[in-house]
Amino acid sequence: MIISTIIDPIEKRVAITPETVSKYIKLGFDVFLPESVGTTAGFSDNLYIEAGAKIFDTKIKDVNLYLCVKPSNLSELELTKGSYLIAMLSPFQNEKILQKLFLNGINLCALEKIPRITRAQSMDILSSQANIAGYKAMIDAIAEYGRVIPLMMTAAGTIRPAKVLIIGAGVAGLQAIATAKRMGAIVYAFDVRKAAKEQVESLGAIFIEVENSENGETAGGYAMEMSEGYKKKQAEKLNEVLKKSDIVVTTAQIPGKPAPVLITKEMVGNMPNGSVIVDMSTETGGNCELSQKDKKIIYEGTTIIGYTDFASRVAHDSSQLFARNIYNFVTLMLKDSKIDLSDEIVQSTLIK
Ligand code: NAI
Repeated sequence: MIISTIIDPIEKRVAITPETVSKYIKLGFDVFLPESVGTTAGFSDNLYIEAGAKIFDTKIKDVNLYLCVKPSNLSELELTKGSYLIAMLSPFQNEKILQKLFLNGINLCALEKIPRITRAQSMDILSSQANIAGYKAMIDAIAEYGRVIPLMMTAAGTIRPAKVLIIGAGVAGLQAIATAKRMGAIVYAFDVRKAAKEQVESLGAIFIEVENSENGETAGGYAMEMSEGYKKKQAEKLNEVLKKSDIVVTTAQIPGKPAPVLITKEMVGNMPNGSVIVDMSTETGGNCELSQKDKKIIYEGTTIIGYTDFASRVAHDSSQLFARNIYNFVTLMLKDSKIDLSDEIVQSTLIK
């Protein structure tokens, strides 16, 4: 059986690394890769060849599995009929084009649909990528801020530490908190799930609470849409904290719904001059009224970043984790060296 991938014009991450090439070969696969496939992630063709891959410069036929990160050119892909395309396929946004691919005989596994159950943790691409993205979002916010982050007591006087606010303490948010703490910032965090308090505090950050409020957590552990009364109280509380915040990273997300708008134009106007907001949720609309997808804008002295590719901006490390996640998934699809779709995790990813 043959494994391959596709070069993406936008995405810098790769779904196959030299490390996983060796593992696929041990499983009995042949690995054929397009020339320079890993260059953007820091993996040379030589590293792939040493691991056992064959590099080709024309189109390869008879591929069984195409492993990709997040194909940006789905409508232009020329794939072998009967093959499997395994990737982040954004099934809600790409419904029509995925249906067309399926009707053309391509089997589709959308990795975002892997259930967040214990057995699937080693395949959880959302967590592995959000973790790195949360780190990079904070690094980029700090670089953009252009001032000192930790407390500095010098003979020439004291520089006060930066105040950082994280909205949404899930995987990305917790890593953003940890990164800001490591830099010496005073960190505040906010989440509608009460369970997040303990995790936030264990990282040394201060958890902000809306007094007498409901717990915004579903039985599945995800956030739910909050009542109008809560939203009003939350906005007042956030406005108070935002007035003193130098850096804000927002990650609030409700599964299957547009991201909640939590920072209004007016609130941004009240923030300190030179402050920075990184809105990680622009893919689903954004948490800040002013943020724009994949753009950086400045409003009344506050820089607002809406990039959607933070994990791709640290392509080497995020590729290593992604490639291991996808390898673990592929091993579930194999029984006696043949494709077998019976596992419930595999079933949950199939788009039909
Ligand atoms: P997650 O589901 O683990 O975390 C989202 C958090 O937001 C949850 O803790 C939830 O309780 C909280 N939340 C929901 N509504 C809220 C509200 N009204 N107020 C405060 N908190 C609220 O998701 P994860 O994996 O941490 O990802 C976070 C976001 O970052 C997602 O939107 C994801 O799509 C995005 N993302 C963006 C990337 C980028 O490059 N921009 C890369 C990776 C992820």
